[in-house]
Amino acid sequence: MERIPEPELMTGAEQVAAYAGADFEQPHQRFIELLRERCPALPEAGTALDLGCGPGDIACRFARAFPGWQVHGLDGSLPMLQIGKRMLAAAGLEHRVGLYHCHLPDGAAPLSRYDLVYSNSVLHHLEQPAVLWRSIARWSRAGGPVLVMDLLRPESEQELARLVSEYSRNDPEVLRTDFTNSLRAAYRADEVREQLEAAGLERLRVEVVSDRHWLVWG
Ligand SMILES: C[S@@+](CC[C@H](N)C(=O)[O-])C[C@H]1O[C@@H](n2cnc3c(N)ncnc32)[C@H](O)[C@@H]1O
Repeated sequence: MERIPEPELMTGAEQVAAYAGADFEQPHQRFIELLRERCPALPEAGTALDLGCGPGDIACRFARAFPGWQVHGLDGSLPMLQIGKRMLAAAGLEHRVGLYHCHLPDGAAPLSRYDLVYSNSVLHHLEQPAVLWRSIARWSRAGGPVLVMDLLRPESEQELARLVSEYSRNDPEVLRTDFTNSLRAAYRADEVREQLEAAGLERLRVEVVSDRHWLVWG
């Protein structure tokens, strides 16, 4: 299927509210499990950077799963961050998770290097995919672990329709449209491998981990 890009930042009020209120229990908890499995040597304490954190659901899950760690999330969408900060306060995690406005590749994070850099569901939004890989190189400490997950573009319109029906059937219209557009904008595993080679990150591994996700790790 031909790739159709979608806008970078998620800033529409309805879109942001629907995304922040969506039930991502299954894929986001799977992200944490994959992190434990693929990066089993994470120390008791450290600093993690979440690139394109959105409302911070994964940052909160990470903070709960790894109680010795601090997490900084970066996102270019102020409405996402506003909702995220309210969710952090409700979860009582503000002392361990910070969310910051940063439109990649510009802007800065609070620290110059992190012990872990991760990202979920962001690559397919970027006008230039190299921005994500350069950001990972910029903020990772030497040899530090990296985990990136995103959607996998389906092979056909039929498969796209099946995925939307299976995973988004009961969602509000705005979320179903987002999911459809995101699947169209997503990369295939071979395209991600080419991006990693171009970025000098060929040591990272690419793996298809579900019928709609790939994982980059190392
Ligand atoms: C699909 S959401 C994923 C949010 C979060 N990672 C998650 O898994 O729930 C994509 C996020 O990436 C952000 N984003 C897209 N392009 C960006 C860029 N160039 N710089 C910073 N954030 C960006 C969007 O604003 C949005 O919040």
